[in-house]
Amino acid sequence: MADAIRTDDISPMDIDARVDAVLQEMTLEEKAGQLNSVDASSPDPGSRLADDIRAGRVGAVLNQVELHEVCALQHIALEETRLGIPLLFSRDVIHGFKTVFPLPLGQAASWNPDVVREGARIAAAEAAATGVRWTFAPMVDISRDARWGRIAESLGEDPVLAAALGAAMVEGFQGDDLSAPGSIAACVKHYAGYGASEAGRDYAATSIADNEMRNVYLPPFKAAAEAGAATFMTSFGDIDGVPATGNDYLINGILRGEIGFEGLMISDWDSIGQLIVHGFCESPQEAARLAAEAGVDMDMMSSAFVDFMPTLVREGQMSEQVLDTMARRVLTLKFQLGVMDDPYADVHRHGTPPVRDAMAVAYQAALESLVLLKNQDDVLPLDFGTLKSLTIVGPLADQPVEQMGTWVFDGDAARSVTPVTALKEALSGKAEVKFVPGLTHSRDIRHDGFQAAVDATASSDAVIVCLGEEAILSGEAHCRADITLPGAQLELVHALKAAGKPVIGVIMAGRPLALTNVIECFDALIYAWHPGSMGGPALVDILSGAQTPSGKLPVSFPRSVGQIPIHYNRKNSGRPPEPSKVIHIDDIPVGAGQTSLGMSSFHLDDGYQPLYPFGFGLSYTSFEYGEVQVSAPEFASGESLDVDVELTNVGERDAIEVVQLYIRDRAASLTRPMRELIAFQRVSLKAGETQTVRFTLTETDLAFSRRDKTFGAEPGWFDVWVGRDSTTQNGAEFKLTSAQ
Ligand code: GLC
Repeated sequence: MADAIRTDDISPMDIDARVDAVLQEMTLEEKAGQLNSVDASSPDPGSRLADDIRAGRVGAVLNQVELHEVCALQHIALEETRLGIPLLFSRDVIHGFKTVFPLPLGQAASWNPDVVREGARIAAAEAAATGVRWTFAPMVDISRDARWGRIAESLGEDPVLAAALGAAMVEGFQGDDLSAPGSIAACVKHYAGYGASEAGRDYAATSIADNEMRNVYLPPFKAAAEAGAATFMTSFGDIDGVPATGNDYLINGILRGEIGFEGLMISDWDSIGQLIVHGFCESPQEAARLAAEAGVDMDMMSSAFVDFMPTLVREGQMSEQVLDTMARRVLTLKFQLGVMDDPYADVHRHGTPPVRDAMAVAYQAALESLVLLKNQDDVLPLDFGTLKSLTIVGPLADQPVEQMGTWVFDGDAARSVTPVTALKEALSGKAEVKFVPGLTHSRDIRHDGFQAAVDATASSDAVIVCLGEEAILSGEAHCRADITLPGAQLELVHALKAAGKPVIGVIMAGRPLALTNVIECFDALIYAWHPGSMGGPALVDILSGAQTPSGKLPVSFPRSVGQIPIHYNRKNSGRPPEPSKVIHIDDIPVGAGQTSLGMSSFHLDDGYQPLYPFGFGLSYTSFEYGEVQVSAPEFASGESLDVDVELTNVGERDAIEVVQLYIRDRAASLTRPMRELIAFQRVSLKAGETQTVRFTLTETDLAFSRRDKTFGAEPGWFDVWVGRDSTTQNGAEFKLTSAQ
C-alpha cells in the first residue's frame, strides 16, 4: 500500500484499527470504488478494466485466473492509485477448480460433511495458487423443483442436510485462518429463497410465506454464518414483491439483526441494476440507495455504487456513515485474507496439493456420491473375475468434460477419467470391453448408431449404458419443463434391452430426472449426477464390487414433472394421502357419478409418492433396524432424550449405512412437516456386525421459527423414526413437557 496509509504502527491483529486508519484517508470516490466488483472476462477487459482500476473505481475483480494477469492488475492498483489498496480476486469455485468434485447435489448424496469439507479445501488451495482468494460458494438454496437448472449446484431439499454440508464447505474453503496459504473466502448464496423460483424457471419471482422462509430456506444460511462464512451474496429473486437485493427485512433485519452476520454482502451479477427491471425503482441512483440501505456492501457488475454513492452522500440522500460501513466491510475482508499485507498471488506461498492427493479426494467424493437406485436380482456387482466381455454404451460413457458438470470454468479435462477409460483399465487382460456410443450426445435423436450398440451387447455378458444430460442442460438459466431423458436415449435403452442381456444403467445428470418411462428397462441403475474428475474409477469400483455403494438421495425423484414440487417434508394437510385412499385414473369406472374420489391429497395418475424418496439408496448388503428405543417417554426443557436403535449388517459385505432420524411435531402453533430430518449418522458395519446407534435429542433439535417469529420448541407429543430413508415406519413417540 502507498505510504499514505502505512499501518505498521498498529498491531497486525487489530484489523479494526487498521481499517480505520485506511478509511480516514479515503475520499468518497475512493470508498465507493472499493464497493465495485468487476468482471475481467468480459469484452475489452484489458483497456477498460485497467483504466477503471487506475481511476480507483475497482475493489475486486472476478474471473481473472491467469497469474501474470492477476499480478499485472494488482500492480496497477498498488502503484498507480493514490492509496494503493490491493484488489481482491474472485471466481466461482463451486465444486472444484482444476480437480473437479461431484456436483454439489451429488456431494450431498454422500451425506458426508468430512468429504465435502476436504473437497472444498483442495479446491481452495488450487484456486488460491492462481490469485483467487474469494469463491462464490457454497450455494445453499433449498430446492424442491427438478425443473430448476440450479438444483444441480444445490445441496438438495432438506434444511438440515444442506445446513450440515454448506457449513462444511465454508470450513473447507476458509480453513481455520482466512489469511493462511490456501484459504479463500466463502460466499454463501443466494440469499434467499432462490430455489422457490416460480415453475422452476430461473430468475422467476418467488412467493414464500415468512414462516416457510424462516423454517425451510434460511436454516442453511444461518448454519453457514455460524460456521464463520466471510461473505454472502444476494439472490436475483423477487421475494413476495421485494427483490432480495433491496430487501432490508431479509438482510439487515434477519441476516444481520437476528442471525448476527457481520461480514460482507455482495449483490449477484448486476442484481442492483436489475432492481429497475423488477420495477422496484426507476433509476440506477435509486437502485444504489435501496441496495445500500438494505445492507448490500458490494456491487457485482452494475457499477451503481461506484457511480452514485458519492452523489447520494453529497446530496444528503445517504449518510457517509452507511458508505463507511460498506467500505469497512470490504477493507476488513482484505485485511482478514492477508491481501493488504501480501497482495501478490504467489503460487509458491499457497502451493497446490499434489494432484495425486487431490484426485484421491475426488475419487472418494465421487464414490460416496453414487446412489444405487435399483439392483434387480442382485445383478450388481458384476464378477470381473469371470466376465468374458462387457459392452459400454451411451452418450455419457466417454465424455470427460460433460462428467465434470455445470459451473466448471477451470476443470482440467485431462484429469477427468471417464467410465470407458476406467473400465478398460480395470478389465485389461481379463475381459473384452467394447465401447459403442449409440448416440453422440444426450440430445441426439438419430438412431443410426443403435444397431452397432445392440450387436455389441448381444455378444457380451452385459451392457453398461451411460445416459443422462450434457452438463449444459443444468446450471444457471438452464431449466427444463420436461425432465425425462433427452434425445433418443429412451429408445436406445429399449433397443439394448431387446438384446436380452443384463442392462446396467448409469445416469449422469444435473437434476433428478423423471425415470418412470425407463426404469423397467434397467436391471440395475446407479445415479451418478455429474461425478467429476474421478467419476469413471469410482463407478467402475462400484460395478465390480471393489466398493459398496453408500449414497442416499438428497432430493426426491418425481414420477413425472407434474408432481413438482415434491419433497418428503411436506405438510400433512387436513386430508393426507394414504395408499388406501389413492384411486388410480385407470380404475375409475366409465360413467362414474359425481364424487370426490379418494378424498385426499394425490394425483389420479401419479398418486402422491415420488419414484424414489429423499434419503433412499441401496447397498450390496442389507441392514436390519431394531425397534426405536427412547430413554424416557418424556423430557423437559434443559433435559435430553436418547433415541437408540440396533443396526445389524445382515449381509456378507462390510458397508456404510446412513442412518436417518426424523420427527413429526404432532401439534404446534404452526403446522409442522409430516416428517423432518433432525439428524443422521454414517455408520460403518462389518458383515454380521451389530451396533447400537444413539441419537441424543434436546429441545433445540425440536426448535423452529414459531408463529410469533421467536425460535424455539413447543411442548407436546412427537413422533420419532429412525431408518434408511424418509419413508421409514420404524418409530416411537415421546413428549416434550416444557420448552423455553
Ligand atoms: C451468476 C450467478 C452467481 C455467480 C455470479 C458470478 O449470475 O447467479 O451464482 O456467483 O453470477 O459468476
